[in-house]
Amino acid sequence: MSILIKNIKGLIQTENIPQNMVAGGEMSLLNTIYDAFLLIEDEFIRDFGSMNELSPDFKIPEDKSLAILDASGKYVFPSFCDPHTHLVHSGTREAEFTDRIRGLSYEEIAKRGGGILNSAKKLQETHADELFYQSMIRIKEIISLGTGAVEIKSGYGLTTDDEIKMLRVIRRIKETVPIEVKATFLGAHAVPDKYKDNRGEYINLVINEMIPIVASEELADYIDVFCDRGFFTVDETEKILMTGLKYGLRSKIHANEFDFSGGVQVGVKYNSLSVDHLEHSDEDEIEALLRTETMPTLLPGSAFFLGLPDPPARKMINAGLPVALASDYNPGSSPSGNMKLIMSLACIRLKMLPEEVINAVTINSAYAMGLSETHGSIARGKVANVFITKEMPSYEFFPYAFGSSLIETIILKGKIL
Ligand code: NIG
Ligand code: FE
Repeated sequence: MSILIKNIKGLIQTENIPQNMVAGGEMSLLNTIYDAFLLIEDEFIRDFGSMNELSPDFKIPEDKSLAILDASGKYVFPSFCDPHTHLVHSGTREAEFTDRIRGLSYEEIAKRGGGILNSAKKLQETHADELFYQSMIRIKEIISLGTGAVEIKSGYGLTTDDEIKMLRVIRRIKETVPIEVKATFLGAHAVPDKYKDNRGEYINLVINEMIPIVASEELADYIDVFCDRGFFTVDETEKILMTGLKYGLRSKIHANEFDFSGGVQVGVKYNSLSVDHLEHSDEDEIEALLRTETMPTLLPGSAFFLGLPDPPARKMINAGLPVALASDYNPGSSPSGNMKLIMSLACIRLKMLPEEVINAVTINSAYAMGLSETHGSIARGKVANVFITKEMPSYEFFPYAFGSSLIETIILKGKIL
């Protein structure tokens, strides 16, 4: 099956020589071909260019069927890569939302046994089939919102059996959906109540029992630790990351959401693929990240939802760093997987330019989940994950019109949904 999209008003994020990420000043550059065509063959992008380069007697091999789509007035984007979510969870937490409106903070709620421990209790009581069913509703929703690759974390199990249950549900999702899924083991998301007075015992459980099983069943692509005030210390994080590395798991960590936790530095030390959140970052964190392979990944949905300080995206980009964006889709701090809304929040709150934001939700976010060779841009040979917008005046209109749904047609692995 082949698809030719022609008369595209603007074909966004094209690459002739694919890069695995863009940083600093380059983030404000966005390759766009106006009046363009895009040719998809089977699962892959075969060719693209301006309409006048499309030969008038263009033919495709006879044994293949060809669908022709006219995208006059419309834009074509590579599908979003969302490199940080917790979309496998049981139930929701709107009671805590109301508690926060009344004045409690996220950390206060967590200390009282709400927060992550609340979700863990629900998840432990939920059968894997039910968890799969609930999560599939969320994943279908994010697919309809333009996401073509997603990372999903465990971390609401917090017992060996329940962490494994979550990761198996993620694997089942991976085998079911048309988008790329990466799984991250986050046993160190919170210390269960039972271990409150003996944290070391829980860390040992993660290290000696959970990680070996996760690795032997090949249930995770990455490992994560919530390295922050009230959650896990730098020393505890180091122990877990070292064990992860021993089992071949590279890290992507939660760092500096509530404090200057040292999470960024420990992430860099262990060559994490990404350090995520970073609401509390300054010169030291930026300096630590420069000239490394660790992608700073910002989650403006959770800063917005919890009323946290905004991460210093401008300072990071001006210093020459790359930035990726993710939804953090979870029931406690960001109950939305809408990457278009994340783009708007990043423009409005983090003062990122539309071009920077588009780079941050495509090529840089593909990097943050180890997918930039195959996803995150319109390049020959990459997976044909794209969406066609409704008619729009410009690409800046896409993050500008923050409440409008502007996606009209979705193509994943070369198939029109
Ligand atoms: O990324 N910060 C830690 N974990 C999630 C929140 C999880 C929850 O509240 O359930 C986050 O914000
Ligand atoms: Fe998170």
